[in-house]
Amino acid sequence: MKDNKIVDKIRQLKKKRNAIILVHNYQPSEVQDIADFLGDSLGLSIQASKVNADVIVFCGVYFMAETAKILSPQKIVLIPDKNAGCPLADTITAQQLKELKSQHPRAKVLCYVNTPAEVKAEADYCCTSANAVGVVNKALKDEEEIIFVPDKYLAHYVSRKTNRNFIVWQGYCPVHANISVEEVKRQKLLHPSAVVLVHLECSPDVIELADEVLSTEGMCKYAKKSKAKEIIVGTEVGIIYRLEKENPYKKFYPLSERAICSNMKIISLEKVLLSLEEMKEEVTLPKEIILSAEESICRMLEFRD
Ligand code: 13P
Ligand code: SF4
Repeated sequence: MKDNKIVDKIRQLKKKRNAIILVHNYQPSEVQDIADFLGDSLGLSIQASKVNADVIVFCGVYFMAETAKILSPQKIVLIPDKNAGCPLADTITAQQLKELKSQHPRAKVLCYVNTPAEVKAEADYCCTSANAVGVVNKALKDEEEIIFVPDKYLAHYVSRKTNRNFIVWQGYCPVHANISVEEVKRQKLLHPSAVVLVHLECSPDVIELADEVLSTEGMCKYAKKSKAKEIIVGTEVGIIYRLEKENPYKKFYPLSERAICSNMKIISLEKVLLSLEEMKEEVTLPKEIILSAEESICRMLEFRD
């Protein structure tokens, strides 16, 4: 079936099911084009918590769809492909976090949104890359011991920004960790007037060479506001489609052509259509996990910087 036929069918079914489509900034371009809301983890969580629909079709990775379910438990949350995992989120289990907590019984736990729901249920606070610094500054007291899971690079950046030490889990995102200092230097040589934006999941050496360190939505906002005509983008390459669409007179260069999250790319228009036709794959979670995880996520939603 041609893409425009699939899109027509998706639109009809969306009406019939009273569904809304939430799409992450790294999704394939044709999926971004059918979004009711396109954004980063924080923006999508906020939409999920307030959206007026019976069904949410979540085009992103699994922990994001789980977050939508936690914030909208009464709604049906569908993910077009259940295999869209996040290798960073999978670096820690609830059992491993419980063991770490038992070694530091007085510590508060701050967990990145890129974690399974069961891990969020064990945490005191959740954060995304957009509000991690704000959550530490505003929510956690100076004298408090903090366990920060699971991304060691995000923890390193937030630690530097807030002057706080964390007990850190050694996880990382393979896509961002792979972006190298050599690639930054090469892109800067190729585009000497360009501004360099990088994601908080990049390694400290790469972050050191950047002009701005931002979440994916932060990058989209920066691109619109900034006077810069050329921007080097240090994150997953899927975001470039949105950046170009929203800023037709600016130039965007991927910092690394290799920065591709294969999990984000397994969602397709065909799968979104099938998802709405057959109402699958439904994201379900035990009630007690939803209730505990909701507390840490709701605390995070108070900090939106
Ligand atoms: P954002 O919250 O910045 O969109 O990041 C999500 C993510 O998975 C980055 O790899
Ligand atoms: Fe997970 Fe990295 Fe993909 Fe983001 S880019 S979803 S952190 S694997």
